[in-house]
Amino acid sequence: MKQILGIVGSPRINGNTHVLVSKILDGAKELNAKIDMIFLNKLNIKECDGCHVCWEVNQCNKNDDMINIYQKIIESDILIFGTPVYWYGPTGLMKLFLDRFVFFNCPENREKLKGKKAILVVPFEEVNFDTATPLISLFEKSFQYLEIPLIKKLIVPGVTKRGEVSEKKEIMEKAFQLGKNLSSGNS
Ligand SMILES: Cc1cc2nc3c(=O)[nH]c(=O)nc-3n(C[C@H](O)[C@H](O)[C@H](O)COP(=O)(O)O)c2cc1C
Repeated sequence: MKQILGIVGSPRINGNTHVLVSKILDGAKELNAKIDMIFLNKLNIKECDGCHVCWEVNQCNKNDDMINIYQKIIESDILIFGTPVYWYGPTGLMKLFLDRFVFFNCPENREKLKGKKAILVVPFEEVNFDTATPLISLFEKSFQYLEIPLIKKLIVPGVTKRGEVSEKKEIMEKAFQLGKNLSSGNS
């Protein structure tokens, strides 16, 4: 059974990111994937200060919610990174979270990420796809570096009101099917 972790990097509950990540997880649930979702805004996640203690003792020295989240990440097969475009990049919440992946950048902890796959979900207001290019590039490069293949992207321009993406039936269906394919191993 596939284990899938949805990460909502928007501070808005029921916002477009939350709606899209939920829909993907609904699709995954249909075929019995084990799913979980975390809201970065509800967690205490401090910044990485580059001390690299985690490379020496395989444990971050910050006593915050990442201790449990590292475990969730390690137990998952697929990680869904959801963030809106905020000034042509991800939200600060998502960037802080990604920075903490330094933990996985030593030989022993790298093993713990091996075999996992990533999905990127990005809603934003402007209608031009190019708006998301710097953000996509940031994730593509980071995932490439961490050796977790980015297997699917759901890039959704033209949405800004809280949850308005749920009115876009085609996008919702696409998100649902994406989730279904994840759990069936078709991705
Ligand atoms: C601080 C901030 C910065 C934003 N920057 C951009 C931007 O550069 N380009 C854009 O198209 N939309 C931008 N937006 C709009 C959001 O991407 C849009 O409202 C999105 O749907 C929010 O996702 P959410 O509903 O999941 O919170 C910004 C919104 C905020 C609050």
